[in-house]
Amino acid sequence: MITVEEAFQKFKSRLELNDKEQKNASDRHYEVRDYMVTKFAIEGQGFLTGSYKRNTKSKPLKDIDIFFVLKDSERSKYRDKTPSVVVDAFYDALEKKYGAAALRKQGRSVNINFGVKADDDDNTDYRILSIDAVPAFTAGDNYEIPDTETGKWIKTNPKIHEAKAVAAHQAFSNEWKGIVRMMKYWNNNTKKHGPDKPVKQSFLIEVMALQCLYGSWGGSFAREIQALFHTLADRVFDEWADPAGLGPPVSNGMDAARKQRARTLLLAAAKEADNAIDLARKGRNGEALQAWRNLFGPKFPLS
Ligand SMILES: Nc1ncnc2c1ncn2[C@@H]1O[C@H](COP(=O)(O)OP(=O)(O)OP(=O)(O)O)[C@@H](O)[C@H]1O
Ligand SMILES: [Mg+2]
Repeated sequence: MITVEEAFQKFKSRLELNDKEQKNASDRHYEVRDYMVTKFAIEGQGFLTGSYKRNTKSKPLKDIDIFFVLKDSERSKYRDKTPSVVVDAFYDALEKKYGAAALRKQGRSVNINFGVKADDDDNTDYRILSIDAVPAFTAGDNYEIPDTETGKWIKTNPKIHEAKAVAAHQAFSNEWKGIVRMMKYWNNNTKKHGPDKPVKQSFLIEVMALQCLYGSWGGSFAREIQALFHTLADRVFDEWADPAGLGPPVSNGMDAARKQRARTLLLAAAKEADNAIDLARKGRNGEALQAWRNLFGPKFPLS
């Protein structure tokens, strides 16, 4: 039987992006891009960004962000208008290619669902489920993206978010991104939590981990994960600023009731981790593995 730490290593590698998945994401990017350039004046190619680009996205791979930076010639039509105008225009354009059933308007993007379903083990045959097409304009060194929930354009800078993730990863013996992917995998487990994720925007988990998962890597995934669930539960009511200092607080996405629910579920996960660690200490390794799998979901291996 494998040890708990060996199981975590395997779990970590199962959540890593592989070549086939990267190829599929890139193919989908070009497919969407080839169409969007016929409808809008776009700078360059549009680019894959967000957690996908930073390698902090979990599985199954969905909602991969593509920024489509619109040229200055589109400014008066879209940037000078309220955010919903450009999101509506993206939706209307994409509807002609993908159909309304595949599309979902979101606050900052249009989600394109490719109709791929994950199986019971969360496998997708190396295919991505969906893309978020995000309209953007340049603003000096930064970008501005629409936010229909607040009716404002928000500033963002993916390069700064990426640099912070890289620094955190290196400072944590290159284990930081793997642990962030594991935490997001727990958050994505709809069989466990129902359709609403505990932490509504999983970017918030990553932002909190920049502050809560630091110091030196102690050498045990089980211990680091246990401590992180406890800390996130403690601090989920805090305000969490955009790490680049440009956009609105990342924690604004949840109201008080949603934060309370997040806290309850994070605390329950922390207790499950306490229990799994206790089982392993008592030599009940099989039960410990099962407890970790119950906590995370099917990609946590039992053998
Ligand atoms: N409040 C914010 N202020 C500034 N930039 C933000 C803010 N929220 C998100 N972003 C940027 O937009 C990107 C896409 O946001 P999104 O919510 O899709 O998160 P993500 O990092 O892609 O996480 P995941 O896809 O794993 O949920 C983020 O990676 C971040 O760079
Ligand atoms: Mg995203």
